[in-house]
Amino acid sequence: MTPNPLRDPSDRRLPRVPEPCALVVFGVTGDLARKKLLPAIYDLANRGLLPTDFVLLGFARRDWGDEDFETLARKSAQQHARTAWDEQVWQRLMNDIKFVPGSFDDDDSFDTLASTLDELRESHGIRGNAAFYLSIPPSMFPVVLKQMERTGMASNKANGGWRRIVVEKPFGHDLKSALELNGLVDDVFTPGDVFRIDHYLGKETVQNLMALRFANQLFEPVWNSNFVDSVQITMAEDVGIGGRAAFYDATGAARDVLQNHLLQLLALTAMEEPVEFSAEAIAVEKIKVLRAITLPPDLTKHAVRGQYDQGWLAGERVKGYRHEDLVPADSLTETYAAVRLDVQTRRWAGVPFYLRTGKRLPRRVTEIAVVFKKAPHLPFSKTDTEELGHNQLVIRVQPDEGITMKFGSKVPGSAMEVRDVSMDFLYGESFTEASPEAYERLILDVLLGDATLFPRNAEVEASWRVIDPLEEFWAGQQPYLYRAGEWGPKAADEMLAADGRTWRRP
Ligand code: BG6
Repeated sequence: MTPNPLRDPSDRRLPRVPEPCALVVFGVTGDLARKKLLPAIYDLANRGLLPTDFVLLGFARRDWGDEDFETLARKSAQQHARTAWDEQVWQRLMNDIKFVPGSFDDDDSFDTLASTLDELRESHGIRGNAAFYLSIPPSMFPVVLKQMERTGMASNKANGGWRRIVVEKPFGHDLKSALELNGLVDDVFTPGDVFRIDHYLGKETVQNLMALRFANQLFEPVWNSNFVDSVQITMAEDVGIGGRAAFYDATGAARDVLQNHLLQLLALTAMEEPVEFSAEAIAVEKIKVLRAITLPPDLTKHAVRGQYDQGWLAGERVKGYRHEDLVPADSLTETYAAVRLDVQTRRWAGVPFYLRTGKRLPRRVTEIAVVFKKAPHLPFSKTDTEELGHNQLVIRVQPDEGITMKFGSKVPGSAMEVRDVSMDFLYGESFTEASPEAYERLILDVLLGDATLFPRNAEVEASWRVIDPLEEFWAGQQPYLYRAGEWGPKAADEMLAADGRTWRRP
């Protein structure tokens, strides 16, 4: 029997494995490292995607030795890894771990790190290759970068191999600080060796958006203002801010999510076909879109921010944002943001893009909904079609990754009644192989030197140009309160109603 290529992974192209190298994680005891990075490294090892000569190096301010690091890494991987536990894989990985204790302003610790990397060239055959992952607060980036410059750690030439840096979002707090940060990073590393992480780009469905648009003939002809009424991009979370008050209260939803994840989703939805599937060509197209975005002239009508108040979620009573630990009782920080953006290009002029994100909403869901115009004419009676809505193509980024097409269909019976129905494609049903976690994919790409899924400098800067005036408009304003467990403030519904539209209930 001929194998079904969708179900039988055996005839896939062999995956590429990176060259021998070290991965240095700064801030290895932090939340991100424990929940995402260490588990992702284990998953890569388990899938055989790490080179035989691979060393994992943790750096953090703890008086720890290699064994303590191993204990933390084991616990993280066992709790959060995607793939099954395999003690042998773990033992192999753990033969090659190191921990360097130290604070970022301590020269001695960085000298130790530099000499450790030198020694690894001989002892572990890493050939001078190393990637540095900054999983640390952005305020710490400058001091770490300066240390790397001082010790010569960042230089490809001096170290006889490649040296790459991975910077976690947010990249700056506004355009000015992003320019400064980008300048600093580019002073120390060559631009091609800088990987800015926006983990949404590592999600399988986000990548599938490009496949959907550019590998098919069906969608692209209607992907424009002739046929599309509007686009809604939603990233809803049911969780609150957890233990991240210090970071979140100084950041807010617009800087945390809108500036990066949502604008990247918009760029991929709206961009033209790249001339080839390469990092450079995709960045060129995304940058064009990001630069063509304008805010509506009257932000009082088209930009809403909210803050969650106490309420109920999944049967549990939850606190309001201002009562979360370490959040000031008079905080003006938004936990919800919704905005209308316009893309001033021939393809999109006149099509509003509505973006919204929020914490403590009824459920966790991220989706891009392309809402089509209504058919210009219906040859059926009005009463038979009154429940017919707009055709929609919904790309569900998470959970239940897939694509849904909503269209009108005849209701069985003698009348010509037409109503909306859905046609679903679910990743989990069509493919047996589970999607890798975003961080798995992105860490692997860093080690392979493939920058396709990483935003460029210019994208970050263009995104801040959209967000800065919004933040200025909101500065000092009280956010609207919304009850935890509801779909954001009423003002967000009114914003769409004023345009004659409604939010989808995802
Ligand atoms: C991060 C934000 O970038 O994305 C968090 O800082 C948010 O506030 C998280 O919770 C959501 O990621 P995911 O992959 O769970 O949707």
